[in-house]
Amino acid sequence: MLEVNDLNTFYGHVRAIRDVSISVHPGEIVAILGANGAGKSTLLNTIAGMIPPAAGRIALDGLDVTFRRSHELVQRGLILVPERRQLFWPLTVEENLRLGAYRCRTGTRQLGKNLERIYSLFPRLAERRKQGAGTLSGGEQQMVAIGRGLMSQPRLFLLDEPSLGLAPLVRAEIFRALRQLNGEHGLTLLLVEQDTKLALSIANRGYVMQTGQIVLQGQAQSLLANAEVHDIYLGKGPRTDAISITQ
Ligand SMILES: Nc1ncnc2c1ncn2[C@@H]1O[C@H](COP(=O)(O)OP(=O)(O)O)[C@@H](O)[C@H]1O
Ligand SMILES: [Mg+2]
Repeated sequence: MLEVNDLNTFYGHVRAIRDVSISVHPGEIVAILGANGAGKSTLLNTIAGMIPPAAGRIALDGLDVTFRRSHELVQRGLILVPERRQLFWPLTVEENLRLGAYRCRTGTRQLGKNLERIYSLFPRLAERRKQGAGTLSGGEQQMVAIGRGLMSQPRLFLLDEPSLGLAPLVRAEIFRALRQLNGEHGLTLLLVEQDTKLALSIANRGYVMQTGQIVLQGQAQSLLANAEVHDIYLGKGPRTDAISITQ
């Protein structure tokens, strides 16, 4: 579904990612792991058409989309939920969600159905549909950010640190919803996380990044068992020994 080959992205003269190659197959959950500053957000933002790469190739469903802009990628079903949520605070929950459909020429009926689907995935958003986004808890804001992405009817959903700054129970709730989206709705996920254990508890495969490069990759189970993932590559990133998702 997604093939990234030898991708390089610079900020000015500074190379933030170097020769990164990853693939995501339909129906998979793939995790990108790594410490702060490893280049995870740069990778997602480059794939999503927010930053042009200096070299490399990005293919979506076999089509070269390397220099496509983000709105074109949205129309092809590639949607990014950015880091730190980026909601419109003065607007209500539902207004924020509706903004997600803005690029998608969704008919009114479909739009209503999509909203209901999001409210059933996150019932607390239904209770708060008229509430200002700026007054929500961090977890609820993350739910709105995910919901807004879903309004664009993604096929490939890119998520940048959906658990950032959230309490363990809320993290688990968000990840349960992500697994449900994948399992019941067949949504393919490329997930950036610092919370290794949580991410690998739902992922099929993972890649570990360090200073802009992929340094390790494998099946989620083998990465989970690999102590190096924590100790060498992820440094002092958050460990979540207490959290895991059970069916
Ligand atoms: N807008 C930017 N301008 C300049 N350097 C940046 C910018 N964004 C990120 N960087 C740098 O690029 C590197 C990778 O950052 P980032 O992709 O945000 O890492 P991560 O998401 O893994 O924490 C870091 O060294 C960071 O300081
Ligand atoms: Mg980041």
